[in-house]
Amino acid sequence: MSVRPYEPQDEERQSDLDLHFTAGPGVRVRRKYAQLAAHSRMHRRCHTFVADDGSRIVGVLSAAIKDVRLGGYSAKVAYLFGLRVAPEARRRGIASALHVRAEQAARDDGAAAVYAIVITDNASVMPLTHRFALQPIGRIETLIVPVTRQRPGRVDVTTERSAETIAQRVDPFFETCDLFAPGPERYPAAGRFALHFAAQGSSFAAVTQSSHSAVLQDIAESVPAFLRPLRCFWDAIRPLIALPHLPARGETISTWWIGEPVLKGPEAPRLLRDVFRHIHNMAQEENVHWLTMPMRPSDRQYPAIREAFSVGRLARLLRAEACVPSLLLFKPLVEPRAIDPEQLYLDTRDF
Ligand SMILES: CC(C)(COP(=O)(O)OP(=O)(O)OC[C@H]1O[C@@H](n2cnc3c(N)ncnc32)[C@H](O)[C@@H]1OP(=O)(O)O)[C@@H](O)C(=O)NCCC(=O)NCCS
Repeated sequence: MSVRPYEPQDEERQSDLDLHFTAGPGVRVRRKYAQLAAHSRMHRRCHTFVADDGSRIVGVLSAAIKDVRLGGYSAKVAYLFGLRVAPEARRRGIASALHVRAEQAARDDGAAAVYAIVITDNASVMPLTHRFALQPIGRIETLIVPVTRQRPGRVDVTTERSAETIAQRVDPFFETCDLFAPGPERYPAAGRFALHFAAQGSSFAAVTQSSHSAVLQDIAESVPAFLRPLRCFWDAIRPLIALPHLPARGETISTWWIGEPVLKGPEAPRLLRDVFRHIHNMAQEENVHWLTMPMRPSDRQYPAIREAFSVGRLARLLRAEACVPSLLLFKPLVEPRAIDPEQLYLDTRDF
């Protein structure tokens, strides 16, 4: 078995390298990647390494190199992501070997640190993070809400799609955050990014929205039995009233990712609710099923953002709203830098 840089020809020899995770009570999702290195298209500079057993590719890990702010300074860091090992090849040290190689590539590229995001209840990956001294520096909750038709809000919401303009508008709000990567490269074409915002007086609220469907496909693997008989009836009446979509087994779930929430001024929480109403209605028209938003519970604006993002009592009652907890892990490669856990930037490309 060798670990080496990815080559496009590896696509023809890949094994079962999908990712499986629970996206809500009883709803299991299978994440299929368009290509082994598909997600790396979100980043300007990215190393992908594969484990080759001679006949097949049995493991993969990528390291995106980013210019970010770290402890008050500009620095290079590597974001490690997309680690998967084929089920039949596990517990043979493949993930460990991939990690060693990716970390070395990060050092060679001058990275001051590496970071990664892992789902909290993923028992198989946690020992690996301990082995490589990746330390938890923040909790993340990824909230998943079903798209529902909404009454239009009271204010006009504007949508902006130019990467340069989005960066100009959003950057000033995050430039003091650790792990913030400034500039338009955060909005690659593969992610189809848009900024939705509303303003009133001195108040302003905005979020970015993107789609990862060019790089990966989420398929509902299992859905709770109690939801299945409801589906036909549900789908018939759903367009008439604001009911959430219930996924069917085997169905591709189309998701929009929401990120970079900005709230400024006393009216911002109300404006943000109107921004989300607008996004739900656009998503409904484009047959998007879920909106997914990573948030940090330690963010002082978290309660307002979460409250605005939630689609309400009905979805909660049907257990259609879900939360996937994860951890942000960090490891300095040169001298330790003081990271502010209260001021961490979450990059939507990382999810
Ligand atoms: C997590 C994963 C990448 C580990 O790959 P692997 O090649 O089996 O890992 P390694 O053989 O290098 O194991 C390293 C250590 O991690 C721990 N570990 C790995 N799998 C484990 C499991 N299922 N249960 C408990 N500990 C586990 C062990 O301590 C192991 O060392 P040991 O075998 O000497 O005891 C693999 O299980 C996988 O692909 N899972 C599904 C995808 C996924 O969860 N990816 C991570 C996303 S963040």
